[in-house]
Amino acid sequence: MADDNESNKLWGGRFAGGPAEIMERINASIDFDRKLYAQDIAASKAHCAMLVATGIITAEDGEAIRAGLDQIKGEIEAGRFYLDPALEDIHMHVESRLKEIVGDPAGRLHTARSRNDQVATDFRLWVRDTIDGLDGALSDLQRALLERAEQHAATLMPGFTHLQVAQPVTFGHHMMAYVEMIGRDRGRLSDTRKRLNENPLGSAALAGTSFPIDRHMTAAALGFDRPTANSLDSVSDRDFALEFLSAASICAVHLSRLAEELVIWSSAQFRFARLSDSFSTGSSIMPQKRNPDAAELIRAKTGRIVGSLNTLLIVMKGLPLAYSKDMQEDKEPTFDAAEAMALCVAAMTGMIRDLEINEPVLAKAAGTGFATATDLADWLVQNLNMPFRRAHHVTGALVKMAEDRGCDLSDLSLADMRSVEDGITEAVFGVLTVEKSVASRRSYGGTAPERVREAIAAWKERLA
Ligand code: ARG
Repeated sequence: MADDNESNKLWGGRFAGGPAEIMERINASIDFDRKLYAQDIAASKAHCAMLVATGIITAEDGEAIRAGLDQIKGEIEAGRFYLDPALEDIHMHVESRLKEIVGDPAGRLHTARSRNDQVATDFRLWVRDTIDGLDGALSDLQRALLERAEQHAATLMPGFTHLQVAQPVTFGHHMMAYVEMIGRDRGRLSDTRKRLNENPLGSAALAGTSFPIDRHMTAAALGFDRPTANSLDSVSDRDFALEFLSAASICAVHLSRLAEELVIWSSAQFRFARLSDSFSTGSSIMPQKRNPDAAELIRAKTGRIVGSLNTLLIVMKGLPLAYSKDMQEDKEPTFDAAEAMALCVAAMTGMIRDLEINEPVLAKAAGTGFATATDLADWLVQNLNMPFRRAHHVTGALVKMAEDRGCDLSDLSLADMRSVEDGITEAVFGVLTVEKSVASRRSYGGTAPERVREAIAAWKERLA
């Protein structure tokens, strides 16, 4: 009798002996796929209700299975569930415990399904839940950024290109740049969610089933929009996880750039901002240190998130249809990336909420490096009707003059200016201050405080 030998209880019918110890170890996924227990039980309950509704199993068996599944969920959540590597994965653990609890009816639950459609369903549900959680966390981060933007809509700071002072901007504008990025990240996650929200359950092993199942019913019960259309595709693609990892990677890159800015801003050389004590660490040897560890770790964890995307892309790239066991390796990178994302977003939100901005230092820095040179060139175009290229040239000569004298553009006298371009008038000094420069950039999407406040108001409405 199959049940009497060492072989697997659930699929061992044709096996005379059990697996080698190393086979068991390479095969088992329970150490990580137990994360799917809630989705696995929800999907099994939906499947069971459908089997009853379609008359494939009796109502009595269905009820026994349902109650057993609820009990198992309780046991897992209470930490009273015994894990056995011989049972490979979460699906077999749940089914085998069900057999212990309800006896024979348990054996009917697997009618018209396979672990292949089961895992595809569980994993989609898990990725969907994760996207929903991440979306909420990202909207909190946007709110934190918006708060800082509102408080600093007119706070001057240098804008950089090549990390060289370029033109003055406002700190609020800088924060709003990240609000936009995170907004697109959320858009990508929501696109992913829309596409993944189809029900693979009922695709069975790969070809569908001869039982009169109702896939629309299980789709509705699990919150899917519809059943998937092709059984082979349903059990063999993981593009929903790849899309999630792609969206997560792009988002992580955004967080990493902001993290890098926090590292730079909080350095003694910049002193633009100060991280709170709760988000700084000290050094065991240098008493003066306040290290931006959380920002550095966000920057670094981006590596593992992008690495997870890479891992799964490579796992999938050579697989013939339909399911291959390779696909069991889809979970760890996805779980790991999701956990890292949750940590990074929460840490970034905390840092942004607590960030202290050093306004005097920022304002002073905003005026260095001839940051208003473009304003001077624009003035020449607007007031002397000069072609921009020539204005650029004239301004360049004035910058050189100021540089040689070790002063700012606004420290040059009118006579100095006229020695280069005799059309220049006293009025030019009106555009050389940082405040005027920023206030003049009123184009849609520009850094003028009034534009920044409009952008903040629009986002507040979107987030409400
Ligand atoms: N643990 C497996 C996985 O995560 C479940 C599917 C197993 N299917 C199979 N045909 N062996 O991929």
